[in-house]
Amino acid sequence: MNNDPIDMGGFLLTSDAPLAGRNTLRVDARARLLAEVNDVGKLPGLLAYPAVRDGKVLVLGEGSNMLIRGDIDATVVAIANRGVETFQRDDRVLIRVAAGERWDDFVRWSLGQGYAGLENLILIPGTVGASPIQNIGAYGVEVAEFIDTVEAWDTHKGEFVLLDKAACAFSYRDSAFKRQPGRWIVVAVTFDLPRERPLSLDYAGIREEMEKMGAQRATPYHVAEAVVRLRSRKLPDPAVIGNAGSFFKNPIVGAHQADALALAHPGLPVWPHAGGTAKLSAGWLIEAAGFKGTRDGDAGMSNRHALVLVNHGKASGPQLWSFAQKVIAGVEAMFGVTLEPEPLVI
Ligand code: EPU
Repeated sequence: MNNDPIDMGGFLLTSDAPLAGRNTLRVDARARLLAEVNDVGKLPGLLAYPAVRDGKVLVLGEGSNMLIRGDIDATVVAIANRGVETFQRDDRVLIRVAAGERWDDFVRWSLGQGYAGLENLILIPGTVGASPIQNIGAYGVEVAEFIDTVEAWDTHKGEFVLLDKAACAFSYRDSAFKRQPGRWIVVAVTFDLPRERPLSLDYAGIREEMEKMGAQRATPYHVAEAVVRLRSRKLPDPAVIGNAGSFFKNPIVGAHQADALALAHPGLPVWPHAGGTAKLSAGWLIEAAGFKGTRDGDAGMSNRHALVLVNHGKASGPQLWSFAQKVIAGVEAMFGVTLEPEPLVI
């Protein structure tokens, strides 16, 4: 039986709340308490409730980048505030976006307003508030480049704080928010988007796709269209089959190990990374280890893209997690590389 939400003015509270519709891997788990917050000004009051304050708090956006392994004995806070506003600072126009806005809606709005930069990041599921957590990236662009500041409730200090880019400490699929889980609740992100920017076309597949489209003159719209086509072809749609995008990060290894692996496996894609390290294609490793398109019951790896863990129907959190462990062990045994999950595992 589901409990009805109670409207507390600014947020809705539901006890013993079902989460199946709130995570794109469609894990059927429950939360002790769910708070859906429309007015983030009410967040401090909510967090001060004894039932909330004395337990754990977990923040949820659209649940598109998490694996819930079981029922959650905590208050799940879903940030659902809305709004996009532009304002002037010195000679720049900045865009402040509420954390609860959908990322893809914001990307399309920005392109429609004539801003450049986010075209490679179109069609990524999730909310704007989630975008800095794992520094979302695709097709050679990371969101960090365009973030000016992040507004968050700091649970350590008990106040709203404004974090600049340095404080966010962004790196590949990582940030201060991810490294200190639970510390901050993001309520808004301010973007500094250029009107003009060199297009990022170098990622494999983009130019080819634009040629196929017959795009004579490349604009951000053409790049966005090419990315939509590429993503729709390669990545399973979470509306059709439960998934959380890439389930593993592309592993970063030392130069020696990368050279040895490239020599032994000439097909393995290797990209240079910071500080003389190298990034390997986890998708290639998983496919070569034989896991692409395989499954145990309803938990499996996508047959479209080897990096995507999928729920074919009723897989539970533990079943999905144990399949992921099997993939990690298989890749480790074959290549000596340890894959790390990319989404939050709860
Ligand atoms: N590959 C395979 N088999 C596969 C899939 C990929 O061998 O089944 C190899 C191919 O050689 C391919 C290469 O891996 O050329 C790269 O594949 P892809 O372009 O799909 O990129 P990726 O490195 O697997 C990353 C991101 C994706 C992002 C794409 C495009 C991570 C963890 N993943 O995947 O992000 O969309 O690049 O930029 O960095 C996500 O984070 O959820 C996500 C989907």
